[in-house]
Amino acid sequence: GKVAVLLGGTSAEREVSLMSGGGVLAALQAAGVDAHGFDPALRPLQQLQDEGFQRVFIALHGRHGEDGTVQGALELMGLPYTGSGVMASAVAMDKTMTKRLWQAVGLSTPPWRTLASSEATRPERLQDLPAALGLPLIVKPPHEGSSIGVSRVNAPAELPAALSLAARLDREVLCEAFIEGEEVTCPVLGEGDDAVALPVIRIQAPDGNYDYQHKYFTDDTGYLCPSGLPEAEERAIQAVVLQAYRALGCRGWGRADLMIRARDRQPFLLEMNTSPGMTGHSLVPMSARVAGLDYERLCLWLLSRAAL
Ligand code: DAL
Ligand code: MG
Repeated sequence: GKVAVLLGGTSAEREVSLMSGGGVLAALQAAGVDAHGFDPALRPLQQLQDEGFQRVFIALHGRHGEDGTVQGALELMGLPYTGSGVMASAVAMDKTMTKRLWQAVGLSTPPWRTLASSEATRPERLQDLPAALGLPLIVKPPHEGSSIGVSRVNAPAELPAALSLAARLDREVLCEAFIEGEEVTCPVLGEGDDAVALPVIRIQAPDGNYDYQHKYFTDDTGYLCPSGLPEAEERAIQAVVLQAYRALGCRGWGRADLMIRARDRQPFLLEMNTSPGMTGHSLVPMSARVAGLDYERLCLWLLSRAAL
């Protein structure tokens, strides 16, 4: 039957989603699937039903795409879709909720504070936050992706600008302790007890600054996959990521981002992406390829797991 690839959308990651969705669409079509691009920013989602689509590949990122809202609409329309359901999508889109949940099940995530955006720029924060979290610290809008609005604060004087940037993008601001170490990411495919972790990728961005530009537009970031980590460490990271994925109740696929603390190699979970990037620079396709699953087969596998 007819497959819709949802791409674009209205979030701050629209541009990324157009790249992800374009890649997925081309791969599905090349494999002979009757796939069509559908941009919810241009047409109401209800048209999926009128136009006779039977399954949906979600290649949207961020709000109104990755956060359970589109998933809920598709549930109501009875259209099977790729990836996590409503609850896991909604929780994972909120980095603070995700951290609370992981902490409750005993998984490590960096210490944090959340502030209402309306309160974020009060002058006492200049002392409170560094006292609670140390320096450097990381400031994020908790419902964004692709590092949009994220700042690393090295000195108290840099805090006001970081807080107001994040506060402009979100109703809350998440401040996290910076874990000195290595940034890694690890995709997961499947669901529940059948979920499997793919090879870990080590990310080596210049100056440790893996931001929007480095994620999609420059070629100066190093990616190690296979990671080259000792086998026991790779396995330990994968085990933590699987627990994190199952705790959220994810389905289909996901990608956890972590920091590995330099001094004791302890993994700290940062977030779970439930609609990971599928661009030419993206990490799930890179890791899947190392596991022997090329881009086209990855797309077909994900589509085959579309569910309600
Ligand atoms: N939020 C982007 C798309 C990612 O995590 O890949
Ligand atoms: Mg993300």
